[in-house]
Amino acid sequence: MPINQQEFRRVLGHFAAGVTVVTTRGEDGTPYGLTATAFTSVSLEPPLVLVCVDKRAESHPHFHAAQLFAVNFLAVDQEHLSRRFAATGGDKFSNLVMHRGTTGAPVLSDALGHLECRIVDVVEAGDHTIFIGQVEAADARDGEPLLYFRGAYRRIGG
Ligand SMILES: Cc1cc2nc3c(=O)[nH]c(=O)nc-3n(C[C@H](O)[C@H](O)[C@H](O)COP(=O)(O)O)c2cc1C
Repeated sequence: MPINQQEFRRVLGHFAAGVTVVTTRGEDGTPYGLTATAFTSVSLEPPLVLVCVDKRAESHPHFHAAQLFAVNFLAVDQEHLSRRFAATGGDKFSNLVMHRGTTGAPVLSDALGHLECRIVDVVEAGDHTIFIGQVEAADARDGEPLLYFRGAYRRIGG
């Protein structure tokens, strides 16, 4: 018998995660994105990562259509961006320093790091879709990461 959802969420909250904003673009070039902690590296050769996106998310169909995404690692001073991208609706990208990456995905220029990916596999898994992407470009800068642990934003040592 599966564990009840409340207990599942409580225990999952004890796993400390880095916070990302995963972005893609619509067919007309409109940028879409959401806050996601369900991100992991998968393979070094070829370089693969995955992100799990809720099927109810507004941005979900655009990942399918665009076949590309970027993963932006948030820095400790970017909690406001995590909150902004964790809410559906509104212009999430207004007043953001961003640029179009080599794949065409929107990249948050001030993020701690980013990976630009071409989707090579899609796995339907319960109420989420796992998008597996091959990394085509990546960059990172010095700085401290934003963390999420037991329902709160944290910093290393804080
Ligand atoms: C810390 C945090 C982590 C999250 N991680 C994920 C995730 O990994 N996958 C996901 O689909 N949603 C995740 N969410 C929820 C989405 O960010 C949220 O549903 C968002 O509104 C979706 O945006 P959209 O509907 O505009 O696509 C997370 C939210 C927070 C606050």
